[in-house]
Amino acid sequence: MNIREWIADNIGYKFGGCAYAKTHDRIFNPIQKLIPKDFLGRKVSDLGCGDCSNTLRIKKLFQVKDIVGFERNPYLIQRARNKGLKVKKLDLNDSIPKGELATFSFALHHIKDKVNMLQQVKRNFKYIFLIEPMKDLYHALFDAGYPLSEKDWIKVFDEALGEYQLHKQGNNLIVFYRSKS
Ligand SMILES: C[S@@+](CC[C@H](N)C(=O)[O-])C[C@H]1O[C@@H](n2cnc3c(N)ncnc32)[C@H](O)[C@@H]1O
Repeated sequence: MNIREWIADNIGYKFGGCAYAKTHDRIFNPIQKLIPKDFLGRKVSDLGCGDCSNTLRIKKLFQVKDIVGFERNPYLIQRARNKGLKVKKLDLNDSIPKGELATFSFALHHIKDKVNMLQQVKRNFKYIFLIEPMKDLYHALFDAGYPLSEKDWIKVFDEALGEYQLHKQGNNLIVFYRSKS
């Protein structure tokens, strides 16, 4: 764990939760028109769900049948449960759940080996949705994770997923992947 991650895990998330997500309606609302129809009404596992501020947005946008968050940080898990959501404590580096639609919202960039993570998630889920930031000056200076440039994200997606739908929205990349089998 790097020093920024430690500070986020033990101070930022403890006292402020996912405070940055307060302004995320502007990021999530435009996604509605991009969602392929077959991604709607699914059983969703939100991986690295944080305090579930964005899990609630995903729940609404994807008209989910059921949604469960997975998170390793105990302070965030408590905050998420206080919102009435189902959350399981899990370190994604230890194991990956199985399900129908996996979502990563600003969480995959915290994983070091992104290709390996996506390959595992692909084996356990039929659908994947993700929204992740591209590395810019702000993220280079302040992000506790490991965001990539657009070119490097695309290399990861190509290697791990093969075929997928890609959208660019502001500084974020959005991916919809469905398995063919
Ligand atoms: C920037 S936050 C995003 C949270 C939330 N998905 C959102 O959209 O606001 C990154 C989250 O990933 C979680 N995370 C990072 N590495 C993880 C791991 N190995 N297993 C589970 N959660 C992890 C962090 O604890 C944190 O809650």
